[in-house]
Amino acid sequence: MILVTGGAGFIGSNFVLDWLAAFDDPIINLDALTYAGNLENLAALDGDPRHVFIHGSIGDFERVAALLATHQPRAIVHFAAESHVDRSIHGPEDFIQTNIVGTFRLLEAARAYWNGLDEARKAAFRFLHVSTDEVYGSLLPGDAAFTEAHRYEPNSPYSASKAASDHLARAYHHTYGLPVLTTNCSNNYGPWQFPEKLIPLVIHNALAGKPLPIYGDGQQIRDWLYVADHCRAIRRVIEAGKPGETYNIGGWNEKTNLDVVKTLCAMLDELQPRTDGQAYTTQITFVTDRPGHDRRYAIDASKLERQLGWKPAETFETGIEKTVRWYLDHQAWVNNVTSGAYREWVGKHYGAPA
Ligand code: NAD
Ligand code: TYD
Repeated sequence: MILVTGGAGFIGSNFVLDWLAAFDDPIINLDALTYAGNLENLAALDGDPRHVFIHGSIGDFERVAALLATHQPRAIVHFAAESHVDRSIHGPEDFIQTNIVGTFRLLEAARAYWNGLDEARKAAFRFLHVSTDEVYGSLLPGDAAFTEAHRYEPNSPYSASKAASDHLARAYHHTYGLPVLTTNCSNNYGPWQFPEKLIPLVIHNALAGKPLPIYGDGQQIRDWLYVADHCRAIRRVIEAGKPGETYNIGGWNEKTNLDVVKTLCAMLDELQPRTDGQAYTTQITFVTDRPGHDRRYAIDASKLERQLGWKPAETFETGIEKTVRWYLDHQAWVNNVTSGAYREWVGKHYGAPA
């Protein structure tokens, strides 16, 4: 039995689905179902006794403590977070509460539970804290990719809150001996990603005939990793990672935002051409840049490859094609998640609906 937090979000739901496809260990999935959490992602598990969904918050110490006592997990995989940089700029409070205070409470509950285990189960227990490359700040064009030894230099309220949670996770290992592992991953893409993030937003807007908003000059660089590769890396770190260590996870796929958007347009031109015969790139619109926008992220994932034998299975080209096809095949899901709270967000961030 393992406890997953945030397992109804983008990466968490991919993780739950992939885990249960590979193993029989049941999952307790604790998720607060914010705007980003969606049980539809897990509909394939309806009736599967290996998946127990609990609607609740990581910040609820009593609840988490009771869950741990009842289910006695051998590991906690902690995805739950507020995850969108632009939202953190509009309203940082939720990021402080969930990412910092919530992680602190979860660590406290984990520590109390872990202290009560017998020696063998204590030694086998793992707390895996899922984090981001954004904690390392921004790189210049010729700089070497982030290694695990890179200085923390977070620049957005989101990355600052994740950095704070990484420090707490580290301290719980160093001070209390809790077997914590931290992973810092680059930008994920793939099925079930909420269309506020670049790739699903662009696919959604393209098909809806709306502008494809590119912040600033579109020359910012991100490293992209297909979500199933991230999930596999996490499984590997739980299985063989050394407590107290951090592992960078990345796809060796540095792309400018403009290139990513053009790739998506070209793929859509092929798979679902516009009825007027025009290219989707005609919808590209340059908009005001994100404040404090990090210029470049690049991840050096060689430690994970060298020590634990993990490598991404997908290239950007194979992963992005799977992703575009997935969104084309799941328009009903997109339509469901883009009602209500999504419309409010789009109105607030990009202005009145196009
Ligand atoms: P997401 O926003 O899609 O999902 C977050 C999930 O957490 C949602 O299901 C939400 O309901 C849940 N949640 C929020 N607050 C909660 C609380 N208080 N208690 C319980 N559940 C709560 O995020 P994601 O993109 O799947 O990211 C998951 C994790 O991976 C985050 O920690 C994020 O920082 C990290 N990460 C994401 C990326 C990426 O590209 N998306 C890259 C690297 C690391
Ligand atoms: P995003 O998907 O929000 O991830 P992150 O900010 O965590 O890297 O954004 C990816 C990149 O795309 C980032 O440099 C911001 C940019 N971007 C746009 O240019 N337009 C958009 O509408 C969005 C959402 C992002």
